[in-house]
Amino acid sequence: MADKSELIYCYCALSTTASKRSLVTRALLVTLVLTVLAPIAPASQTDKVKISVDVSRTGPKIDRNLFGQFAEHLGHGVYEGIWVGPNSKIPNTRGIRNDVVAALKAIRVPNVRWPGGCFADEYHWRKGIGPERVVTLNPNWGGVIEPNTFGTHEFMDFIDQIGAEAFLSINVGSGSPQEAAEWLEYLTTLQPTTLSKERAANGHPAPYKIAYLGIGNESWDCGGNMTPDYYVSQLKIYSRFVRNFNPAQSSNNQMLKIAVGPGGNEPRFIEWTDAVMKAWKNRQWSWDLQGLSLHNYTVIHWDKKFASVGFGESEYSRILKATLEMENLISSYSAIMDKYDLEKRIALVVDEWGAWYAPLPGSNPGFLVQQNSVRDAILASLNLNIFARHGDRVRIANIAQMINVLQSMIMTDKEKMVLTPTYYVYKMYVPFQDAMFVPVAFNAGTYTHGDITLPRVDAIAAKDTKGKLWLEITNLDPNKPIEIEVSLAGLNAKSAAGETLTAPRVDSVNTFETPTTVVPKRISAKVEGGTVSLKLEPKSITVISVEQ
Ligand code: AHR
Repeated sequence: MADKSELIYCYCALSTTASKRSLVTRALLVTLVLTVLAPIAPASQTDKVKISVDVSRTGPKIDRNLFGQFAEHLGHGVYEGIWVGPNSKIPNTRGIRNDVVAALKAIRVPNVRWPGGCFADEYHWRKGIGPERVVTLNPNWGGVIEPNTFGTHEFMDFIDQIGAEAFLSINVGSGSPQEAAEWLEYLTTLQPTTLSKERAANGHPAPYKIAYLGIGNESWDCGGNMTPDYYVSQLKIYSRFVRNFNPAQSSNNQMLKIAVGPGGNEPRFIEWTDAVMKAWKNRQWSWDLQGLSLHNYTVIHWDKKFASVGFGESEYSRILKATLEMENLISSYSAIMDKYDLEKRIALVVDEWGAWYAPLPGSNPGFLVQQNSVRDAILASLNLNIFARHGDRVRIANIAQMINVLQSMIMTDKEKMVLTPTYYVYKMYVPFQDAMFVPVAFNAGTYTHGDITLPRVDAIAAKDTKGKLWLEITNLDPNKPIEIEVSLAGLNAKSAAGETLTAPRVDSVNTFETPTTVVPKRISAKVEGGTVSLKLEPKSITVISVEQ
């Protein structure tokens, strides 16, 4: 009998309507699928795994914003990671590192969330504009000096250099609706107000585009420890008064407002989600919302976190098991949202996710410095695939965090820069940005280590904007390769090729000294009679495109 989690996987991939149903109905459907599929034996560990792709069925869209980034004023995430200042010997453009900009352009970052995180609820934007910056502290993250040299204009310059959109988190915890409203007026108005003249005097006469606005951050915790009712009353006030005046965003490209949502599966978060969604359902004309945030880190014990280096198969399998919890979280919060919003007008915005490990020995514990291994690459692909399968509800996601913090894309040390295994996953997934999801069906059996059992394979498929088919297949088994046979209904395949990412050990990492241990390699598949065959290395992520 196939493992239950594997069959649920197939179900998720095949059903685009599942998240419209309540949790109870969903449970019944899963039971039905289990019953129907029970006699189908999974591929044994040596069999070929058969994947069927029906190219004639597509949707929903895999929004490019699922590949968003998060840059908080935390450790060396902004200072040193992005900002070195115009007088630095490190090559830069107006103080922003050229090497980092080039690397981020290559993964087509769609949006960057800034300035936090917990930092956002202590950020006062006026201290970060103009020729004289106010020096403050960063009490959340190591109590270090915050020079405010990287402020509004530097952030907007940075995202312009990498071609991304702005996702601002406004200060609800220790700010005021007036402070936030004035920030938006400063950023977006074309009218000759005192604030827009100040923006022009500071170097930017044209209004900025602000695509996304987070109204607070974790307001149930570091953002002010609010009750759901208190937050909802704040949300209504902020949503009413924080206006975007940019004429280019008045009808098309309107700024999306995102409320604080749940941060895990505790009952208090279910109550929170219900309160926000209920308030939205009963809203008056004077306020609105377009997104609800979800934060979910992959962590085993908050007080005794796993290491990011020097681990074995036990920690590898445990972390991957824990990360698959994202599927349950999204399903259950989608079900609550469906109660109030069957049309899925409110996006679920997973604006903080990723692996959170113990700080690297010798680093400042407040700086959240960790290494990034092939395990994290697999973790990233599993989460991105979950988001893609839930693309009708999950339309924005931001991995935490972009540079030098938690599960980063990039690590820097003075003039040195290294790209992490997670960076390469984002690079390999570029063709999936704004592609149309194509359902895949497979039953690859399971991989077991000790008391941990995981699906052996995960896969998604999508048609890009030019109609080309792309397939991503992850082999979770760290020990055994897998032979894959992909049958494609509705497409006459002629050739298939792409890239695969793997490494010698489960804890293999890229370092400044050895930056190419975990990098993608070319792979070509055999195509015969329209069937695509390829061999997946153990613990690997593979992306191929199919030519017809
Ligand atoms: O990403 C680090 C922190 O994690 C963020 O500041 C906060 O929102 C979350 O608790």
